[in-house]
Amino acid sequence: MEKNQRFTITSALPYTNGPIHIGHLAGAYLPADIYARYKRLCENDVAFICGSDEHGVAISIKARQEGTSVKSIIDKYHNLIKETFEQFGISFDNYSRTSNLIHHETSKKFFKKLDQDNCFEIKTTQQLYDKSENQFLADRYVMGECPKCDHENAYGDQCENCGATLSPNDLINPKSKLSGSKPVLKETKHWYLPLGNYEKFLTKWILEGKRGIWKPNVYGQVKSWLEQGLESRAISRDLDWGIPIPRDDAKGKVMYVWFDAPIGYISSTKEWAEKENKNWEDYWKKPDTKLIHFIGKDNIVFHCIIFPSILKAHGEFILPENVPANEFLNLEGRKISTSNNWAIWLDEYLKDFKNMQDSLRYTLTVNSPENKDNDFTWKDFQSRNNNELVAIFGNFINRVFVLTEKYFDNIIPKYDELDSNQIIKIYDYVSLISGSLDKFKFRDAVNHLIDLARTGNKYLADKEPWKRHKENNIKEVEQIIYTSLETCALLSILSEPFIPSSAKKIRDILDINLVNWTRLKSSGKIIQPGHKIKKSYLIFRKIEDDEVEKQLKKLNSNIKS
Ligand code: MF3
Ligand code: ZN
Repeated sequence: MEKNQRFTITSALPYTNGPIHIGHLAGAYLPADIYARYKRLCENDVAFICGSDEHGVAISIKARQEGTSVKSIIDKYHNLIKETFEQFGISFDNYSRTSNLIHHETSKKFFKKLDQDNCFEIKTTQQLYDKSENQFLADRYVMGECPKCDHENAYGDQCENCGATLSPNDLINPKSKLSGSKPVLKETKHWYLPLGNYEKFLTKWILEGKRGIWKPNVYGQVKSWLEQGLESRAISRDLDWGIPIPRDDAKGKVMYVWFDAPIGYISSTKEWAEKENKNWEDYWKKPDTKLIHFIGKDNIVFHCIIFPSILKAHGEFILPENVPANEFLNLEGRKISTSNNWAIWLDEYLKDFKNMQDSLRYTLTVNSPENKDNDFTWKDFQSRNNNELVAIFGNFINRVFVLTEKYFDNIIPKYDELDSNQIIKIYDYVSLISGSLDKFKFRDAVNHLIDLARTGNKYLADKEPWKRHKENNIKEVEQIIYTSLETCALLSILSEPFIPSSAKKIRDILDINLVNWTRLKSSGKIIQPGHKIKKSYLIFRKIEDDEVEKQLKKLNSNIKS
């Protein structure tokens, strides 16, 4: 549990071409939020940075589909996504957008520096062109057969079936997404990042330096990329939506969205620093700053190979300390798919399960796709909520509050002697949970949290304060209830990163403030004897069968036959 360190924590900038779903939350936002909250609680200097990724072809296509302007699409989804994050308690220090002026300026400056240092290759090649629309077909503007797996509907930048990274010219039988016509080839000039030049540096830095440190799924993917050898990647596009390439001979060309988007982390940090009167460079250029990127596995190549090469080429920036990418979350045994509406949209969840963001936060953490793809099912959601959050965690807290009211009129009892055995036991969880979080083991961490509540329940069951009360052993009852209230207090502090709104409710009932984890003493005493606590109520609620059935019905009605 280190303190006084500087962290720059980022979550992948979501595209503003639609709302976000549980897969996004589980992949890149929830673990990042847990980590950021944890690091703040350990007295570190944290910048938790995100924003909307508003360029790229996917957004132009969405605007066309909805028959509206790009601007109205990005505004609509930026606001929706930002609000959803707030409601789920994702504690970004700044949530920016890549259409902001500060980001355009930062990206152009970045490009110019690399251009001046001759970091780019300029090449003229033949690219797919839609004659009827007078437009080059970059990335998702073209679809066709995947050369690797024969999947019929691969995009020009990626096959969603096998995950292969593609370029439009790789597609078999390409078709324009704009007009449906068969494209022709036409010459055009572009700027390329010669990734081959960075192979040595990447091998040394990651394959040699991060072995056994980075997660095996991330390390393995980087290794296989490097073994295949890296090709030059175009970082410009012939499109009208994006950040213009700042060169006189590049009229009509914009930056590839994956060039500017990661720079968005830097622009967002700048925006925050201006507001907060901080120096953004501390968070990006000081070697003792720890930069951590939270992403889903489809973003690994961009965050472990391409962006670090760009940062390295620039020369003044630090590189990520870790990139704890998650695998994918499936839904009821199928791949989450936006186009097939096979997803749980977070804004809809909040309408159906009011004020129950913590139930989803909990379920997605305990069942997080940390090392392998995982399945979300509504049944599992129900049983995790009912059997763990309600029956263990909530039940313990509620029992203690009820007994405190019944025996002591809500005044925290004094005690002659602390039950130090139990106090030591519960305080062990501080290092168990923080140790897991330091290793990015969020599942283990949240399991420890439930175990702590179990320990509390077991203590009550073993000590039977109700029996001692009947026998008039008030001193013993005082000790048991004090110790149990201390356990509740510890739970309200250790659960803060995972289920922040419930944690706050418990602290409000106990009438205590959040305590930094670095200040927790194993001798206990977060709470004070004689202090009156507030009237309690149930923090969690059960999820009924019919609620789950309703959700399953809604989901299954989306299946296209
Ligand atoms: N918008 C991308 C996606 O959803 C992620 C961008 S991450 C950033 O896959 F690094 F480029 F910002
Ligand atoms: Zn494929």
